[in-house]
Amino acid sequence: MSGRISILISGRGSNMLALLAAIDDGRLAAVPALVIANVPQAAGLRLAAARGVETLVIDHRNSSSRLEHDRKVLDALQGRQVDLICLAGYMRVLGPTLIRAFPCRILNIHPSLLPSFPGLHAQRQAIEFGAKVSGCTVHFVDEGVDTGPVILQRAVEVRGSDTEEILGARILEEEHRIYPEAAHLVLEKRVRVEGRRACILPAGEVA
Ligand code: GAR
Repeated sequence: MSGRISILISGRGSNMLALLAAIDDGRLAAVPALVIANVPQAAGLRLAAARGVETLVIDHRNSSSRLEHDRKVLDALQGRQVDLICLAGYMRVLGPTLIRAFPCRILNIHPSLLPSFPGLHAQRQAIEFGAKVSGCTVHFVDEGVDTGPVILQRAVEVRGSDTEEILGARILEEEHRIYPEAAHLVLEKRVRVEGRRACILPAGEVA
């Protein structure tokens, strides 16, 4: 099974590159249909274009409401018959119109073990809280902020000497591993959502 994926970014796009690399080497059975950035200067745009992936800037500042912006994004996604949407450092909350158009087909990566440290600066939050372990989470996007069913998580030790940047870099390595894995499981229909829980089915079974 494979599907057409779109990746939404706001910045450097390292998770986007991890997804594209996994597509190239066969770990993620997908076709990269479109990369959308809401920020025209997002460095990831050039990286995606250099790999031959179609890119589109939909600058949220050109819309007068979240709904208007979301509708533009929705049009672009539907126009490319996208099966799966991966938010990869996309620093915008999606509104219900967009979320309801793709039930259980929008994923997000977050740099903490949710439900701990949702929102911005998750790595800093973990250090300031004094957590000994943090990590990263791939989850389905629902109408809350970082609240949807968890697909995969990976723990990362928080060390006494960690700065936000050092911890962030260690977490990022794990993000790059679990995001392609989670996207692959979803496209293979091996993730069944039951209420809050996303259950991973054994290889060969489909939801
Ligand atoms: C990643 O650490 C990602 O988990 C985080 O932004 C970074 C984007 O890096 N996302 C969030 O904090 C979302 N709440 P990237 O552009 O190199 O993938």
